[in-house]
Amino acid sequence: MLNDIAYVLLSAQEIEKRVSEIAAQINSDYSGKEPIIVSVLRGSFIFMADLVRKLDLKCTVDFMYVSSYENRSVTTGAVKIVKDLDIDLEGKDVIIVEDILDSGLTLHYLKELLMTRRPASIRTCSLLDKPARRKAQVTADYVGFEVPDAFVVGYGLDYAQKYRNLPFIGVLKSDIYENE
Ligand code: IMP
Repeated sequence: MLNDIAYVLLSAQEIEKRVSEIAAQINSDYSGKEPIIVSVLRGSFIFMADLVRKLDLKCTVDFMYVSSYENRSVTTGAVKIVKDLDIDLEGKDVIIVEDILDSGLTLHYLKELLMTRRPASIRTCSLLDKPARRKAQVTADYVGFEVPDAFVVGYGLDYAQKYRNLPFIGVLKSDIYENE
């Protein structure tokens, strides 16, 4: 698996430090509140697990499974809801947790959708931001790292459902997806 990685972009230590900083910011912003943390599956599962364990808040968690990539390294723009939330968002403070903001289509779509459920507030948190490829007018309220225009894997992010279990974030060798 490691042979498929061109280079390590963000080490496990760097990620851990930044996740702590984001959690501290959320702890301060939501002090005394009980936000609902919405994890966008599958890519955010590791970030979500690390982030919520650093939150000193009586938060609840829920999961939404959306699919847009269908095993390819370019986005189709279509967002399919495979699993919706179970929790009612009305009157609640919601934080959407994403792995990466790429075209921005997924987060834009999800934010609009969840707004229709009349929450008290919605903020977004993305571990990575790849602004070079943005198509939708969307920015995240909390961002871990800005990354270059390269296909990255690890710490929850996949290529064709693989590499999610890498403890760091690395750039995938281009021949892995070019030889498809
Ligand atoms: P969007 O293009 O912002 O809608 O991103 C949709 C989803 O594509 C993200 O939540 C990721 O799961 C996936 N994605 C985008 N860029 C990458 C990447 O570089 N590596 C792995 N997954 C990616």
